[in-house]
Amino acid sequence: MKFNIDLCQIIELPKISDPRGSLTFVEGGNQIPFDIQRVYYLYDVPGGAERGGHAHKGLHQLIIAMSGSFDVVLDDGVNKKRVHLSRSYNGLYVCPMIWRELDNFSSGSVCMVLASNKYDEEDYYRNYSEFMHGRDQL
Ligand code: TYD
Repeated sequence: MKFNIDLCQIIELPKISDPRGSLTFVEGGNQIPFDIQRVYYLYDVPGGAERGGHAHKGLHQLIIAMSGSFDVVLDDGVNKKRVHLSRSYNGLYVCPMIWRELDNFSSGSVCMVLASNKYDEEDYYRNYSEFMHGRDQL
């Protein structure tokens, strides 16, 4: 299987700390294996809410907990793993063809996503059985 959850790992981003605070940066193609075409973020997430619930055909993403914490559940159709994100210098790389769900958001948390392409609804599997079918075609 070309894309699987073992490819989806935490990337430790550079962290430059001094008495004035900490600074982290991300450069497309350097710290992360894709160029950044889009940034979006989730915030004001009510307690108990779940986000995600889809997979992408070709999109690469890096998910960062900019503030607070949440969990990302990754599923490649064979294996699943739950990753807890709580550090703004850690990014979870998610390759294409991975079903993901986000839950367990702490109050006031902010989830920032760096994405390899602009928004394109055609790139989504929003139905799990269609995702499994697409995965079997690979
Ligand atoms: P949705 O995919 O449901 O969010 P989640 O990641 O939690 O599943 O997106 C919510 C709405 O926002 C949906 O109508 C599509 C729209 N949207 C954009 O217009 N641009 C974007 O970059 C994203 C990520 C979503």
